[in-house]
Amino acid sequence: MFSKSLVVLAALATVLNAAATPAPAARPVTCAGGQKTTNEACCVLFPVLEDIQENLFGNDTCGDASHTALRVSFHDAIGFSMTNKSFGTGADGSIFLFGETELSYPANLGIADAFNLEAPFINAHPEISVADFIQFTAAVSLTKCPGVAQPTFMFGRVDAKSPAPIGTVPQPTDQIPIILARMADAGLSAEETVALIASHSIAGADDIDPDLMGLPFDSTPSTFDTQFFVETQLAGTVFPGSAGNAGEVMAPIKGELRLLSDQGFARDSATACFFQANVNNQQLMANNFKAAFAKMQSLGQNTAKMVDCSDVLPSVIPLPGAQAQAFFPSGTDQEDVEQACPTTAFPSLPVLPGPLETISNIVQDPATDGNCDDDGSGCVLSEFPKAAKRSASEL
Ligand code: HEM
Ligand SMILES: *[C@@H]1O[C@H](CO)[C@@H](O)[C@H](O)[C@H]1NC(C)=O
Ligand SMILES: *[C@@H]1O[C@H](CO)[C@@H](O)[C@H](O)[C@H]1NC(C)=O
Repeated sequence: MFSKSLVVLAALATVLNAAATPAPAARPVTCAGGQKTTNEACCVLFPVLEDIQENLFGNDTCGDASHTALRVSFHDAIGFSMTNKSFGTGADGSIFLFGETELSYPANLGIADAFNLEAPFINAHPEISVADFIQFTAAVSLTKCPGVAQPTFMFGRVDAKSPAPIGTVPQPTDQIPIILARMADAGLSAEETVALIASHSIAGADDIDPDLMGLPFDSTPSTFDTQFFVETQLAGTVFPGSAGNAGEVMAPIKGELRLLSDQGFARDSATACFFQANVNNQQLMANNFKAAFAKMQSLGQNTAKMVDCSDVLPSVIPLPGAQAQAFFPSGTDQEDVEQACPTTAFPSLPVLPGPLETISNIVQDPATDGNCDDDGSGCVLSEFPKAAKRSASEL
């Protein structure tokens, strides 16, 4: 009886394995261009990498192009629900494939920049899915930002057949329990959500204050350091521009913008201790982000059918030792900390010497301007002939 059921189980396992098309077996190869990778299936990514390195990122050193490429990876992937199939198929390219629809949603305001930046390259590379292009370019963008852990990259996403509905992307005006519920519905815990918010260390806002672009979320928007977690915990005293913008609250230094949602993550009882744990802990921040980001990048996709192409990614840039030390921006100190984590004291940090700073705007990349507008109009991938051919054949 016992051995009989084992036989049945083994047979069942064989059937199940046969049903799922296995990923191509790892076979270390030298690709046509001379690059080495552990899996032949990854060779196709090298020409894409070369093209985006030279022509999309160019000389971008964790500036606007990198930030833009990173943000869209989240807005595409989060179109997924563990409980409702109508919420989309996750990291599936739908944000661009159905740009006219999804980019008209208020939560996607500003993602038109990413469409304009990436659409010509998606057109030039019909050999990979739109979904893979978005996530690959985001992984490459991270390697521009000193301080990240070496990212992973899984390859083999299937493109969307329909758009994600409105309501999948959290907004800065949403209350923290609402944001956490949406993230949990997509499969991401409160701790993973805070880990992902480390992305706001290399980020800023173009569309929150109607008069100002490139307003950074911390004083070091081109390094993946822990300053975002320090500065978001300080009492807000000043707006970079006008008051009264939805989703914005006061920041501790002139020139910086603080999102209402980030203020909430730093203070809500469900997230405050996870948030504070990042302060002056570069390794924890980098490792937690890496893990949560890898999970995010495959939401809704069958990872069993995907191939690990992490070794195609360029090496990351280490954070110079001195910069791994978090600090209070000049003009602020320990007294400005709005301590919210009840169990652990806020780390004591040095104060950056010098006069009160004004943080400079992030310089805008002109390639983020184009026919795709912030209301979704003109965000039509099918206007790019090769992209259209490929997506049509998959639909
Ligand atoms: C979960 C709640 C989140 C909310 C409410 C939120 C909200 C925002 C908002 C309002 C902006 C400014 C957009 C603009 O005005 O230009 C922004 C920027 C950005 N966000 Fe988030 N975000 C969240 C999570 C994430 C995640 C998970 C990632 C990536 C893993 C991410 C990456 C970025 C990046 C890189 C930017 C800067 C874009 C640029 O400068 O072009 N965000 N976010
Ligand atoms: C990068 O900088 C080099 C040297 O300044 C310049 O020749 C090149 O055109 C730049 N590339 C891009 C894509 O802007
Ligand atoms: C699933 O999501 C769709 C699209 O947002 C919505 O119309 C529908 O009511 C949802 N179904 C359930 C059971 O929540």
